[in-house]
Amino acid sequence: MTDAGVKAAGLLEVALESLRRSDVEPVVFDKVRANPGVELVDEGATEYRSQGCDGLVAIGGGSSMDTAKGIGVVAAHDGSIVEYEWGHSPIRSRIPPMIAVPTTAGTGSEVTLWAVITDPKRKIKFNVGGTPHIAAWVAVIDPELTVKLPPGVTAGTGMDALAHAVECFTMSYHQPFTDAVALLAMEYVARYLRVAFSQANNLEARYHMSAAAMLAGLAYGTDSAGAAHAMSQTAGGVHDAPHGALTARLLGPVMEYNHSGEPERFARMAAAFGLDTRGVSTWRAAEMAVEYVHQLTVDVDIPAMQELGFSQDEIPMLADKAFADPQTIGNPRDVDASAYRKIYQQAFELGSHRNGARR
Ligand SMILES: [Fe+2]
Repeated sequence: MTDAGVKAAGLLEVALESLRRSDVEPVVFDKVRANPGVELVDEGATEYRSQGCDGLVAIGGGSSMDTAKGIGVVAAHDGSIVEYEWGHSPIRSRIPPMIAVPTTAGTGSEVTLWAVITDPKRKIKFNVGGTPHIAAWVAVIDPELTVKLPPGVTAGTGMDALAHAVECFTMSYHQPFTDAVALLAMEYVARYLRVAFSQANNLEARYHMSAAAMLAGLAYGTDSAGAAHAMSQTAGGVHDAPHGALTARLLGPVMEYNHSGEPERFARMAAAFGLDTRGVSTWRAAEMAVEYVHQLTVDVDIPAMQELGFSQDEIPMLADKAFADPQTIGNPRDVDASAYRKIYQQAFELGSHRNGARR
């Protein structure tokens, strides 16, 4: 399971050679696209069956890995992936043996218990999973596979990993285990995202970003997220925008809104970002964490909402959809549709200050 970009980068051929050397006869399904939809997953499952496959190897970003997980669910059960939306038909059997090979450092899908699938009919993305049955059996995390990523993809996916860590660390269901991995993911993103963005071939930076994505994925795969993902997943079903960049654009405004709910946790994040919070009040340190993420968003050149395909007159509709998303539950500050409208408003405004005006 892969996409055209991975194929063009020559990574597919490397994997195929390696599989053939091990006497495995691979069947290539390279139709994966960003924001994979119901039809693609169902088509993949039909091909899986008709080719007599007995396992899955996903090479790519979250889209390839989530497509493979989805195909695995349909292959292990029946019907269409749309039936296995969380809260609908239960996933009773484990997916076939699956190896996840991420080529981005962001989604963490290689270690999560979720696949995110787009339903073009309802114009939403829905979650499948919440059970170990959907997890990849093996994750092969090789930072060298990420050195060819363009800066824009490095930035968006890296900020997505940060969003997983931030949202899991501050949400109502946080636990010591997820706190631990989320904090280390934040430290790595703060130290290395700008370096990976600036030096594509810097393996030390790539290594730490791959680790950050995986660690944040462990947190996200166990907890849920919060308002930023409620917004980006629902908005991503409206316009075909890259999940990472969209989440990145929303993260700062969401943190600004949320920090009053969990001041100690936001202050702790400021320390993880490497900020000097000695002699600073909890409230000031919490604000520093928010300011830091706003600046990081500028530094890695995250596109404006308008550039991602959205217009301001869509704000009420987008806010209603975000409020209906299950990830609203557990957000560190009470949030309703009118709060979502305010957060969206700020996201549009900050984006229009792009290219350093905020500095
Ligand atoms: Fe995400």
